[in-house]
Amino acid sequence: MNILVTGGAGYVGSKLVPKLLEKGFHVRVLDWFLFDDNIFKDLKTDKLELIKGDLRNSSIIKKCMQGIDIVIHLGCLSNDPSCDLDEELTKSINLDAGINIIKEAKKNKVTRFINASSASVYGIKDENNVTESSKLEPITLYAKYKADLEEFLHSQASEDFSPVSLRPATVCGYAPRLRLDLTVNILTYHAVTNNKIVVYGGEQKRPNIHIDDLVNIYLLLIDAPKEKIHNQVFNAGFQNYKVIEIANLIKSVLGPDKIKIQITEDNDHRSYHISSEKIKNTFNFSSQFDIKDAVLDLAKAFENDLVKNPNDSKYRNVKHILENEDFINNKILG
Ligand SMILES: NC(=O)c1ccc[n+]([C@@H]2O[C@H](COP(=O)([O-])OP(=O)(O)OC[C@H]3O[C@@H](n4cnc5c(N)ncnc54)[C@H](O)[C@@H]3O)[C@@H](O)[C@H]2O)c1
Repeated sequence: MNILVTGGAGYVGSKLVPKLLEKGFHVRVLDWFLFDDNIFKDLKTDKLELIKGDLRNSSIIKKCMQGIDIVIHLGCLSNDPSCDLDEELTKSINLDAGINIIKEAKKNKVTRFINASSASVYGIKDENNVTESSKLEPITLYAKYKADLEEFLHSQASEDFSPVSLRPATVCGYAPRLRLDLTVNILTYHAVTNNKIVVYGGEQKRPNIHIDDLVNIYLLLIDAPKEKIHNQVFNAGFQNYKVIEIANLIKSVLGPDKIKIQITEDNDHRSYHISSEKIKNTFNFSSQFDIKDAVLDLAKAFENDLVKNPNDSKYRNVKHILENEDFINNKILG
């Protein structure tokens, strides 16, 4: 089985790709390696093909699609602030390139297209349990193009082409390509380095998912019988916590006596809460990891110096993109 992972050198991909190799799949990663060129340097296997290229380059996409059975589409500008930098750039990567990748996949007889969408497509809702059938009301460009790409993908479903979209909550936990711009990861970093967690507001509820649970879900979507995934959409978020609850949990895990929480006023009181009953019931799936595991893994990684120069911009997407002139000037990068 040959799998193409777009954006496979990112945070999620850096944990998913080694797992796919472990399971015996042949994996082709297409990524511009925006954050780390050496992320897979320790993976010595001829089952891994790394292709450095731009998702918007259609001749690369054609080449990458040869012999592929399943696509896992992760590649994009992956948070609100990065997408807000330049709408044209964002649309070209997050929507236009995505549409081309879907069309090429279908043309090349890819049977299953697993699309990394996001729980942010719902916008902010009053209802307590946002399910897959709740209305999509994206607020940000990031969420809007996620919703648009889903719509296109699912319009392409056919007997031989099974699209499935996953809408994950905010991911947490250590990965070789780490992001320190995600709630649990940032707060843990602050607790570890400053013994202080600054919380803005804090009453907002945010759903979370541990990166290892997310990886297990991607494996499940690869293995599941077609009828369970064909043209389906799944939420994936298992701990709906208030930000202040996350901060308290980190404090209790890492040092109730030494870590201080500082609450700063914030006008953003938007909360949301997603239901992941569908994925649990369809696959009999239960999450095996929680925020506490993520905090402990991250703390261990900092302690063991696995996170080199944590102030480096490469751990913070928008900062890093801003430092990358060619990227921000919207050049197609080979
Ligand atoms: N991390 C989360 O909390 C989260 C939550 C919900 C959904 N998601 C989705 O999961 C997917 C993976 O997220 P992540 O956290 O690993 O993101 P990430 O930013 O770490 O990885 C994205 C990868 O895409 C690559 N990329 C971006 N533009 C490219 C281009 N034009 N050409 C080639 N490569 C390009 C980058 O180099 C990077 O390696 C994304 O689609 C994201 O929207 C993530």
